[in-house]
Amino acid sequence: MPVPLDAIRAIHNGFRNDMAAMDKAANSAAHKSGNLDLVLKRYNLFNEVLVWHAVGEEKFVFPAVEKVALLVSQPYERDHRGLDSLFERLDKAISSNDLIEVARTTAAFKFHLDIHLAKEDAHLYRIFDEKVPLPEQGATIGNMAREVPQQRYGEFVTWLMTFTNLNDRENMTRIWQQMLPAPAFAGMGGLIKAAVGDDWAKLTERVPELKSAAKSDSR
Ligand SMILES: [Fe+2]
Repeated sequence: MPVPLDAIRAIHNGFRNDMAAMDKAANSAAHKSGNLDLVLKRYNLFNEVLVWHAVGEEKFVFPAVEKVALLVSQPYERDHRGLDSLFERLDKAISSNDLIEVARTTAAFKFHLDIHLAKEDAHLYRIFDEKVPLPEQGATIGNMAREVPQQRYGEFVTWLMTFTNLNDRENMTRIWQQMLPAPAFAGMGGLIKAAVGDDWAKLTERVPELKSAAKSDSR
């Protein structure tokens, strides 16, 4: 059975994969061997999910860590402001259609994001895992999930299922199954099926209840 921290691991992997694909596309566009379509399509939603996640960390995870390890979370908050400024720079570069500046910015964004997430996984969340009791971990991560606006939750589910691997998809499906009332979980079946594509058979082999959820979600 997944633990609450598996949700964080999955979301971090989603950010890594989405950003890696955008940086690759931006690099191709700058070298005139591709275009910016993928970046244009994805960068706003990527940043919205990043902000929901970062705000959730600042409101719930950092205070929980502060209680057991004073001053540890401050540099992570500073990293988040760096991510904010990279998004602003990317948005500006895209508006002015400057392909070189777009590629320079996605490279910097990816580098900073990867270092930040790796540091959180190895340090911040290790402290969280070792020093914060499991029920409080669950409550903290449940509170973070509520930072995603309810009317956008479907987009969030699709985003996460698109940019993660089978293990993360299984963990997230089980976490939603535990967390949500049955009708809400059933409401996600169709979204998950559409997002995971060819992985649907493997995923429903691992979580058979998902199959019936997708069937009853025949709106
Ligand atoms: Fe963070």
